[in-house]
Amino acid sequence: MSKEVILGIESSCDDTAAAVVDRDGNVLSSIIASQTHIHSHWGGVYPEFASRAHALVVVPTIARALAEANVAGPDLKAIGVTRGPGLIGSLIVGVNTAAGLGLGWNVPVLGINHLRGHLRSADLVERRVELPAIVLLVSGGHTFLARMESLTSIQLLGSTRDDSVGEAYDKVARLLGLGYPGGPAVDKLAKTGTDSILFPRPMLTEGFEFSFSGLKSAVGRYLDKNPDVSHSEVAASFVSACMEILLTKCRRALVAHPSKCLVVVGGVAASPQLREGAAELCDSLGVKLCLPPLKWSTDNAAMIGLAAWDYLNEGVRPPLYATASLPITDF
Ligand code: KG4
Ligand code: ZN
Repeated sequence: MSKEVILGIESSCDDTAAAVVDRDGNVLSSIIASQTHIHSHWGGVYPEFASRAHALVVVPTIARALAEANVAGPDLKAIGVTRGPGLIGSLIVGVNTAAGLGLGWNVPVLGINHLRGHLRSADLVERRVELPAIVLLVSGGHTFLARMESLTSIQLLGSTRDDSVGEAYDKVARLLGLGYPGGPAVDKLAKTGTDSILFPRPMLTEGFEFSFSGLKSAVGRYLDKNPDVSHSEVAASFVSACMEILLTKCRRALVAHPSKCLVVVGGVAASPQLREGAAELCDSLGVKLCLPPLKWSTDNAAMIGLAAWDYLNEGVRPPLYATASLPITDF
């Protein structure tokens, strides 16, 4: 008998994940098989190895998620699988696995936009988001601001012209010898240092667009010229520049488009500095801050499962094939 739960599958980058989620965003199970041990050797994600690792673990990861939720495959309401954006070989593993399982179990399969997954992560376990909202999505692949009036009406305000803020964190982590993934390590080191170096804040003074490549290069040049500088000072100054850029743009967006809440999602939303800074900003503007639970800020399948409910509710069935790029405005 069909149960009111969806199986989410996520394999867009370096985590193979499966989760079972009900229509209210309650997470019955969430399994994440991380590939950090494979990619840390290369200092970044090695796409071919990522695809192979997904292929090895995707079926056992799904089996564990179903077992923990005590659900049989044929009883699922639907399967939601990330179809993009992401690494094409990695996406193909998830999409084809989901297509095969859906056929075998006679369950519909929905190809989900990963960015909509991040967006919906803020409503996992409890409903937080109130509309209209300003959304800041900060991940390894993306950095943008959007205005959301409803799930079907999302307007992009501005995105990065070059690197994402997550990429800048990962690059700075490599420069500081902190390994991969870099975000959490940079934040931790930054907390032990003082913000004493004035790194550039590209595109700070106007608009909603971002640029992080100049900041990243400035950190590299500073380290070349000052080999004895304290790394904690560099980390603290870099994080401070990132926060000023992100929060200034959020403030500008909230002032230009008065909204009930600010939604901050994506891997960098795990940053304690960003969480604290966004809380102060929202307090000062009288706006509600909506953050995903910490463990679902970075890539996971629970957010894909919750996003899949929107596709079902709205009757949206995009063609089921993997696609490397996809804007937030698309389902
Ligand atoms: O959303 P995500 O898991 O994957 C993508 O969709 O890209 O984001 C990964 C990014 C990486 O760049 C990682 O360094 C960053 O999120 N990240 C962090 C933290 N945790 C993960 N950045 C800053 N502080 C963190 N605590
Ligand atoms: Zn992501």
